[in-house]
Amino acid sequence: MSIAYLNGQFLPIEEAKVPALDRGFLFGDGVYEVVPVYAGKLFRFKQHIERLENSLRSIRLPLEQTLQNWADICHQLIKSNRLDNATIYLQITRGAYPERNHDFPSNPTPTIFAMISPLPEIQPQPSKEDLQGISAITAEDIRWQRCDIKAITLLANCLLKQQALECGANDTILVRNGVALEATSSNLFMVRDGVIITPPLSEHLLSGVTRDFVLWLAEQHGILTEQRSVPEHELLQADEIWLTSSTKEIRPVTRLNDVIIGDGTAGPVWRQMYDHYQQLKAQLYRGEIDSNSEGEIAL
Ligand SMILES: Cc1ncc(COP(=O)(O)O)c(C=O)c1O
Repeated sequence: MSIAYLNGQFLPIEEAKVPALDRGFLFGDGVYEVVPVYAGKLFRFKQHIERLENSLRSIRLPLEQTLQNWADICHQLIKSNRLDNATIYLQITRGAYPERNHDFPSNPTPTIFAMISPLPEIQPQPSKEDLQGISAITAEDIRWQRCDIKAITLLANCLLKQQALECGANDTILVRNGVALEATSSNLFMVRDGVIITPPLSEHLLSGVTRDFVLWLAEQHGILTEQRSVPEHELLQADEIWLTSSTKEIRPVTRLNDVIIGDGTAGPVWRQMYDHYQQLKAQLYRGEIDSNSEGEIAL
């Protein structure tokens, strides 16, 4: 049985109960974060908590919680559940009040919830499935105008993901005004002539911690990167397309709207980046690194 955290208490997840009047339940009024854990270490924790703090600021939900408080909760979850490779889900809502009322409560008592789930270990050598890549479709982005906030209101993302599944594809790349932005739960990259290209940060996409990491890792290895707008039609001419997230790391898209991308398998730049990613994780496992010039990698 998994041990979770709810409002100051560690308890079996089945016993973690939230009132029906919680604003997270009634309005989707909350934000979340997903942090990967490798070899018992929180990966790029500082960046995840900074983004969580940004999300909280954006929804005007004040919370007295330091980086160390968050780290203590996460480490306790790792320990209680004896999981070394995992993802930790953190969620904060504006809390429960006696009435359903759109107005913000003047003195909010947020609901803080955290749980841990096992994460299949990504291997030093890519599997057949990794090399095969996934298929995606493109669709109009029907989400709101503040996709930079990691809000728990994910109905549009779920509908768009389901649309892909019902077309026999794995995911949907979201397009606004002819410009591709990201996928339903990951950031978007393409490779053209050896250059790694990703859409620039804006209110229409999430500032992915993995996106940042991939850009940093590429620069460390002398691979050119560019942050610029990606027209939907250009994606079909890409040499490679990838989706990135904390749980997927870097996943190649080898078929888009039934068009084969590259030669239909994971491309050479993906392979280079996969190796760099796994090498860095291996160093983390061996305890050789804790941080880098860009800041904290693990805590
Ligand atoms: C919409 C969206 N974009 C991008 C990402 C990738 O973010 P990260 O790399 O921080 O996991 C996610 C992750 O959940 C997401 O939901």
